[in-house]
Amino acid sequence: MKPVKVGLLGLGTVGTGVVRILEGHQEDLSSQVGSPIIIEKIAVKHADKQRSIEIDPAKLTEDPWEVIRDPEIDVIVEVMGGVNGTREFMLEALNCGKHIVTANKDLMALYGSEILAKATEKQCDVFYEASVAGGIPIIRTLIEGFSSDRIIKIMGIVNGTTNYILTKMSQEGTSYEDALAEAKQLGYAEADPTSDVEGLDAARKMAILGTLGFRANVELSDVQVRGISSVSKEDIAYAKRLGYEMKLLGIADRDEEEFSISVQPTMVKKNHPIAAVNGVFNAVYVFGEAVGETMFYGAGAGEMPTATSVVADIVAVVKNLKLGVNGLKSIVPYKPKKLKSDEQICYKNFLLLQVADKAGVLAQITQAFAEYNVSLESVVQSPNADTPDAEIMIVTHRASRANMEQVLKYFEGLEVIRRVKSVYRVEG
Ligand code: NDP
Ligand code: HSE
Repeated sequence: MKPVKVGLLGLGTVGTGVVRILEGHQEDLSSQVGSPIIIEKIAVKHADKQRSIEIDPAKLTEDPWEVIRDPEIDVIVEVMGGVNGTREFMLEALNCGKHIVTANKDLMALYGSEILAKATEKQCDVFYEASVAGGIPIIRTLIEGFSSDRIIKIMGIVNGTTNYILTKMSQEGTSYEDALAEAKQLGYAEADPTSDVEGLDAARKMAILGTLGFRANVELSDVQVRGISSVSKEDIAYAKRLGYEMKLLGIADRDEEEFSISVQPTMVKKNHPIAAVNGVFNAVYVFGEAVGETMFYGAGAGEMPTATSVVADIVAVVKNLKLGVNGLKSIVPYKPKKLKSDEQICYKNFLLLQVADKAGVLAQITQAFAEYNVSLESVVQSPNADTPDAEIMIVTHRASRANMEQVLKYFEGLEVIRRVKSVYRVEG
């Protein structure tokens, strides 16, 4: 049984987990694939850094090209992150006939189609299960499990850091800053957590899920993005009062062949299963035309959950090697991309308004909604303890984004509205 040789690019949080699983589960893995899987070389930035696992120093190099061009290596596992550099590494690895496993959503969201096209040309595998929702096998599920269905809607909590922060703020009253610092310390956040909190990390993952779900080439620029940095404890408290949880949701949905994709803080009705997903956990809810509702839940980040997906991808490559069928499973999107217009994108909205507390105010506000054909589900008014004003919480029925924008513009001209404090999408 000739061993299959793996070259690792990166030995940080995820890379360390990959080494632990490959070494710890060696017997089980080799009996599944019929050969030992061994790590031949590892590229790191600082070869003399202290590590939490024992590594033979002879395997370490600070030159990724040494790993990529090593003729002994069959599979390159890219867990170093970043886009500049890694794109070139991946393309060259494919040119050298190596199969690729990566956890890099930034790379796959931006250059996935180029890399997958090169893989098809070179008859190599490119697997990227860990790039979305860490330990949840959602990519394989969309490609294989749902190959027979037509996906109508995907809703995902696909960023562990923001779910951790929102959960801490909601359940323990932790400040945004403290919760973010904890997420960083636990290894969930990106090196620059701006991409987590501003929704970009989730947007990249939704672009990948949208591409697989709708079989059309969804680009990052197709995803409308809003992060959680403007979500206040007050918003979360109001959401709870009305029976909702605040979640950073990625939502991809379609009517016929037209679809929309967004990432935004969303108030989710408490009885929806995705509202109960807390902490660093991720979940992806998929509604298929034939299957109906499904939901996939698990750890979305962290050393061992993410490494589980990476090693499962290595196993898939090795099984394909044995069967001689590498390069056949990459999905190259084939459908034309048709994005919905703002008139076609419809959902429920929550608004929190600070208004003058006097006669006729409610009539003026409801007039604005009537003008633009937005129907209201509920209206709740309460006094504001700190000012002579009142606060009004409104939940609309489904309304088009275009009409809601008109309503908000109309509000700018209403003297009785002191401030539109918050606007959120509502689901469930
Ligand atoms: P880390 O920052 O913990 O590790 C990065 C590793 O890459 C380090 O070992 C570093 O070396 C090495 N490295 C960085 N630049 C270079 C370079 N130019 N040449 C050689 N080695 C280099 O990252 P993570 O493990 O957290 O993330 C890795 C990937 O996995 C990213 O794409 C990330 O988005 C993705 N991911 C991460 C998850 C998580 O929970 N952390 C979850 C899902 C996906 P050194 O150790 O010497 O500094
Ligand atoms: N920063 C990411 C998160 C890591 O918090 O979900 C997993 O991709």
